[in-house]
Formats: sequence, C-alpha cells, structure tokens
Amino acid sequence: MKTYILITGASQGLGKALALECATRKMNLILIALPHSGLGTLSNFIEDNFNVEVHFMELDLSATKSCYEIFNYVSDNKLQIQYLVNNAGVLSRGMFNDLSDDFVLKQIEVNVTTPTLLTKLLLDNLKGNRPASILNISSMAGFFALPKKQVYGATKAYLTSFSKSLNKELKNDGVSVTTICPGGLNTTTRLCYQNRIMGWVTRKSVLNPEEAAKIAIDSMLCRKKVIVPGFVNKCLMALDWILPEAIKDWLTIREINKFPKPI
Ligand SMILES: NC(=O)c1ccc[n+]([C@@H]2O[C@H](COP(=O)([O-])OP(=O)(O)OC[C@H]3O[C@@H](n4cnc5c(N)ncnc54)[C@H](OP(=O)(O)O)[C@@H]3O)[C@@H](O)[C@H]2O)c1
Repeated sequence: MKTYILITGASQGLGKALALECATRKMNLILIALPHSGLGTLSNFIEDNFNVEVHFMELDLSATKSCYEIFNYVSDNKLQIQYLVNNAGVLSRGMFNDLSDDFVLKQIEVNVTTPTLLTKLLLDNLKGNRPASILNISSMAGFFALPKKQVYGATKAYLTSFSKSLNKELKNDGVSVTTICPGGLNTTTRLCYQNRIMGWVTRKSVLNPEEAAKIAIDSMLCRKKVIVPGFVNKCLMALDWILPEAIKDWLTIREINKFPKPI
C-alpha cells in the first residue's frame, strides 16, 4: 500500500531539507507551505529526480480552516499518512512590547494551534498505517526563559510537553511521537547572519538544515522521544543543570543582545 509523509512548512529552511531527506529515502510526500513560496517548483523537482509521488498544498497555516482543508484533501484522495511532520513555525522577532498583536497571535496559531489540530485530525489515518510516527519540530528555546524569544519559547515549550504526553498516550496504538529541539539552524538569511556574529560556543552549536533533517528523520524512524541535535547543544543542556542562574543569565543576555534587527 502506498503511504505518505506529510510535512508542513516545506518550502524552505528545515522543512525543505526534511522533504529532500525523505525523498532520498523514497518516501512519498505531501508538502504544505504558504502560497507563492515556490512549493510547486520544489515538488516538480523532487518528482523528476527522486522517483517518488509528491502532492502539495499552498495554504496559510495561521488560519484554522487550513487544517480542515488538509484533512479533506487527504480524505477525498484516500491518501494513507504514515508520518506527520509538524515543522512550520513562525520564528522569534524581538522584544514583546515591540511585537504587533497580529504577529503574536499568528505565532501562536502556527506554532501551537495548527500542529495540535492537524495531529488531531490526522490521528485516525496514522493509526490505520501503523507503525506510524509524528515528528514535531520544537526548539531548545522551549527549555529556557529567553528575552526576545518569549512567545516563541513558550510555543515550543507547549509543543514539547504536548508531544511527550501524546507519545505516552499512543503507546498501544502503534503511533510514536518524536520531538526534535534544535538550537541554532542556518535557515533564513537573518539567522545565517546572526549565527556568524555570535560567540564561539553559539557558532559551534549551529547546524545546517540538512544535518538537522537527517538527525530528525533517523530519530523519528527509531521512535525516539525527545532529541536535542548536535554534540555542542547536548553539552549546553548538561551545563544548564550545573551553572548558577546568574551566570546563565549573563551569558544568554550577552548573546541575545547581539541579535540583528528583524527584516
Ligand atoms: N532556524 C532555527 O534556528 C530554528 C531553531 C530551532 C527550531 N526551529 C524550528 O524549525 C522549524 C522550521 O524553521 P526554519 O528555520 O526552517 O524556518 P523558515 O526558514 O522560516 O521556514 C518556515 C517554514 O514554515 C512555513 N510557514 C511559516 N508560516 C506559515 C504559515 N502561516 N502558513 C504556512 N506555512 C508557513 C514557511 O512557508 P513559506 O516559505 O511559505 O513562508 C516555511 O516553509 C520551525 O518550527 C522553527 O521553530 C528553527
């Protein structure tokens, strides 16, 4: 039976790297991103070069109705989903007081509401294709309290907690839930620049999207629970247990103050 991996936010950054990684592994794809994001070109490229089937949908995932449109498309075309990757995310932008109401609400919609609702809507389909897996792209920011990442970090803390609980709940249903919590990734132009002007440790912790995608898919297929990718990031997580709060605050604020202005 033909099964698919559905990836949200697949037009660029980590999502595009995940799509290419899965195509290399001969998985059929359903890709989702915003309209006019070049998703059609990417889908044609993958179909032409990897001998897999690709469906794509251009939708705004900050609108709840988009989740129902995905569900209807999958049901109408009788597509069997074996893997769901909740990757689409709105990244952090700056101080809370400077963020527009619209931006904050959109960040919560895309990072929290959409992965939750999409998981709910596609769960029966996944259960029908066991062994199935959900891969949720969270962030190391979800473990810490960081200025300029307040709402973003909170959305990722939600996603990690949600995924861990759901993984326990689905234990007997043949559906695993893997959460990957990357540190810095060289994805957007701003992040590529930011990651080059940070201190030595931060620079060493940054991964390219292709490296993170491979780790993420391997972890999902091995049905791992929570993964922090990269050796330096794992060390930083261990240091978090050891260092006193005041030193951690000094180090993080020193790094965060180097962030460039958002575009
Ligand atoms: N970059 C990092 O340093 C980092 C670190 C840790 C975790 N992460 C997480 O990794 C994931 C991917 O991040 P990234 O750096 O690859 O980001 P990115 O390059 O900005 O890509 C985000 C993806 O999500 C899609 N997306 C955003 N808003 C959307 C919306 N309203 N409707 C539909 N699609 C939407 C984008 O589609 P369009 O191209 O159409 O805009 C794009 O495909 C996110 O969940 C992020 O939180 C990133």
